[in-house]
Amino acid sequence: MNYSDRDKIIKPGILKVNSLSTAPQSTSEELIPALKVENLSCYYGDKKAVHSVSMDIYQGQITAIIGPSGCGKSTFIKALNRISELEGKVRFEGSVEFFGQNIYSRRVNLNKLRRQIGMVFQKPNPFAMSIYDNVAYGVRVAGRKSKGELDEIVESALKGAAIWDEVKDNLKKSALGLSGGQQQRLCIARALAVKPKIMLMDEPCSALDPIATMKIEELLQTLREELTIAIVTHNMQQASRVSDYTAFFNTDESRIGQLIEFGPTAKIFTDASEAGTRDYIAGRFG
Ligand SMILES: Nc1ncnc2c1ncn2[C@@H]1O[C@H](COP(=O)(O)OP(=O)(O)O)[C@@H](O)[C@H]1O
Ligand SMILES: [Mg+2]
Repeated sequence: MNYSDRDKIIKPGILKVNSLSTAPQSTSEELIPALKVENLSCYYGDKKAVHSVSMDIYQGQITAIIGPSGCGKSTFIKALNRISELEGKVRFEGSVEFFGQNIYSRRVNLNKLRRQIGMVFQKPNPFAMSIYDNVAYGVRVAGRKSKGELDEIVESALKGAAIWDEVKDNLKKSALGLSGGQQQRLCIARALAVKPKIMLMDEPCSALDPIATMKIEELLQTLREELTIAIVTHNMQQASRVSDYTAFFNTDESRIGQLIEFGPTAKIFTDASEAGTRDYIAGRFG
């Protein structure tokens, strides 16, 4: 089993779309945008990395963002909670509304925004502190809590991230001693502890082995009951397994950073409207 095989040709006959999903598929009338992205462009200096993208991330759904390397997936997803501004010079045009509120408005409290819209990165990035303190970190920053309250929050977040049983006897030990897959679930627990409404994930499994990847994929299906999830993945089988909606970003040079197609995952993977999407999904890209 090779989870990192981005160029694997997916045969329509064996493709299972969202087979792990337990949530009922909503009809389009019921879909509420948790994030409404309109004409979002992102620039590094003169370079336009994301090109006037408009799409919704629906509440309670898992949205996969796919496309070749360099097409702006990370830039796009990091614009959705303004985390990119911590990393360097990036300029934005357009708007992103979080349940109707423009996150690029001057009045936005960035710490609060990033608690409500959490993020998990490609490489697990636990802090060099204990497992407990990692999970408690954001909660402590957000305000005072009693020891009892904090203990409860930490336990519930670790359970939510399906790692409690593996770490409950070692909460005081350094998070850096955990395996890669455990570290990534710890990072998910750290994000869950502050009770986000949305979780953004940028290739959360790309540094993990197949077993650890499977655990995260299973976890996504339980998280979806309480959370809205957007996940960047270059693994198309993963996108087809876990997501309800898929956004395909550009392939060819002339359309860098553009959203080529967005729709229900089942449709994108079996009956895409755009030739570029079909080619990419069939492994004919490049
Ligand atoms: N900090 C940065 N400074 C300048 N250019 C960047 C920066 N980060 C990404 N880019 C460029 O923006 C484009 C999109 O990158 P990225 O969003 O990382 O794509 P993806 O995640 O799809 O691989 C690429 O051409 C990349 O080289
Ligand atoms: Mg990326």
